[in-house]
Amino acid sequence: MTAVHSPTAADSGASASANFRSTAREGVAVSTERVSTVVAAVLQGVHSAIRAHDVTYPEFQAAKQWLMDLGEGAEWPLFLDVFVEHVVEEVAARTQDGTKGSILGPYYLPDQVALPSVCTLPHRPDEAGDPLVFSGRVTDLDGQPLAGAELDIWHADSEGYYSGFAPDIPSGNLRGVVSCDADGRFEITTVQPAPYQIPTDGPTGRMIDAAGWHPWRPAHLHLVVRADGHRPITTQLYFAGGQYVDDDVAEAVKPELVLTPVDQRVTYDFVLERA
Ligand code: DHB
Ligand code: FE
Repeated sequence: MTAVHSPTAADSGASASANFRSTAREGVAVSTERVSTVVAAVLQGVHSAIRAHDVTYPEFQAAKQWLMDLGEGAEWPLFLDVFVEHVVEEVAARTQDGTKGSILGPYYLPDQVALPSVCTLPHRPDEAGDPLVFSGRVTDLDGQPLAGAELDIWHADSEGYYSGFAPDIPSGNLRGVVSCDADGRFEITTVQPAPYQIPTDGPTGRMIDAAGWHPWRPAHLHLVVRADGHRPITTQLYFAGGQYVDDDVAEAVKPELVLTPVDQRVTYDFVLERA
């Protein structure tokens, strides 16, 4: 297979930061009261950790240095998506019915190739990894098919690396926007992704190591599923029995999102609620 050298934290962080900045986002109108309430609560959390654990001056200065390194290494998107996003998703999920959501993560890229309902994701001629056929259907809450629903799918390769972020992978590899058929069905052929390791050579990796934690996420497929007149869902699907499914560093696994492969095939039916 193609020789791929592992991405450094600095490379992944820089690409993830550039990608985040380039994504158009609506400005959020936040009231003074809201800022005061939430920022005070965040600071209070920090203050109470310092009091509860008798944090010392040398520890405070080490933390300051580490935060400076995190910024200079452009690792904020990696750090926040691994350690914080799952709670934001948990809160968002309180008001959404249908398929369970999960975190977006730092590696979504918009405007990928459009694919028909039965398709193979773009891949290298010598793409390594076991074949994987992912099929299913998109319906509304009443089980009615959503014709022409769209599955925006992206995943890591058999070494755990994402196109657009790791070096030497063609752009658009293992990414695509699949249109479901008139019955809401799709069948996507791809390769089995490997677990993903947070780059260990930057500040996030150093923190994980210093705390004696592990830097792994279980193998997963990323999806944003959309259909006209319905609320899109951002989610991930995992593989039963896979490494780290019960111990995801990003705490983004939900039992409903764990699939059981049978003969290298997995099936999942998405359910969207009305917008
Ligand atoms: C990160 C990477 C992922 O692939 C993911 O799904 C979530 C988070 C990260 O490095 O922050
Ligand atoms: Fe991911």
